[in-house]
Amino acid sequence: MKLGAFFVTALLLMSGSTFADKLPNIVILATGGTIAGSATSHTQTTGYKPGAIGVQNLINAVPEVNKVAHVTGEQVANIGSENMTSDVILKLSKRVNELLSQKDVDGVVITHGTDTLDETPYFLNLTVKSDKPVVFTAAMRPATAISADGPMNLLEAVTVASNEQSKGRGVLVVLNDKIGAARFMTKTNANSLDTFKAPEEGYLGTIIDGHIEYNNRVEKKHTTDSIFDVRQLNELPPVVIIYGYQDDPEYIYDAAIAHHVKGIIYAGTGAGSVSVRSDAGIKKAEKAGIVVVRSSRTGGGSVPVDSAQPGLVSGTLNPAKARILLMTALTKTNDPVQIQQFFNQY
Ligand code: SIN
Repeated sequence: MKLGAFFVTALLLMSGSTFADKLPNIVILATGGTIAGSATSHTQTTGYKPGAIGVQNLINAVPEVNKVAHVTGEQVANIGSENMTSDVILKLSKRVNELLSQKDVDGVVITHGTDTLDETPYFLNLTVKSDKPVVFTAAMRPATAISADGPMNLLEAVTVASNEQSKGRGVLVVLNDKIGAARFMTKTNANSLDTFKAPEEGYLGTIIDGHIEYNNRVEKKHTTDSIFDVRQLNELPPVVIIYGYQDDPEYIYDAAIAHHVKGIIYAGTGAGSVSVRSDAGIKKAEKAGIVVVRSSRTGGGSVPVDSAQPGLVSGTLNPAKARILLMTALTKTNDPVQIQQFFNQY
């Protein structure tokens, strides 16, 4: 051994340093979902109990993560994501902000149910004040199923969160070897493993054999560019979604007004077209000081601003994501003109 190499090796041995010490520190926050789901048989893939397995068991099932990062786990919730509430996503955002402000945390992975994985990652995309990686993952098959997808998704999410290139890209969603942006990823099929897509915008990158390849960046504002700060808040303004369809009744708007909601997302037909009944309901809601956003129930495309109704906000977000942005926007203002700008920017 050359003298220089000898001294470096000796120094490393004396300081107790090993290769493992160079690994990033990643915290896994578990919230439940199918990735933590348990069924009564190895073939059952519907009707099982989501959120049955704790975070340490999820980590123990994938010892390969320890080659990628120093991993620690915390249980934030253990629920099916249909039971996620504004309170839980607010708590999650605050915890992620706390963790990422620590020097000894390099990234966060969040395990979550797929059913509302449109929503929570987008909320964190708007409210996390760090460029360190925040990566959501999930599974379509419960942990007990033959060929469960959760373990590989978890490993890939930790790999993505550990990678320097993942910094500053906004909150990411990793499933099925694909890396997507929280702003665009949406569940497109109730059963298929390959359900998370960004149909118009595409994925940001892929991960194959642990190798990450990024192809795109998101132009919309997020994380460190976002003006939204929920760290001192204890609740989010209530916003409901009203679906447009043949015979949609006006009385749904009366119920929303009576429940003192602060915002309504109208999931309109086509490019957000409004029936005469919904039009009457929307006008009543606006008179009551409620901000109304027109979105499209088609899940894609753009809803144009209606120049005849400048108080009516619109944009390109699907109804579930529009609700997240409107709740967040209402923490700053209830001026529809400013909220329209947020819908253009975020
Ligand atoms: C859930 O969203 O919690 C259940 C369904 C899933 O995770 O796939």
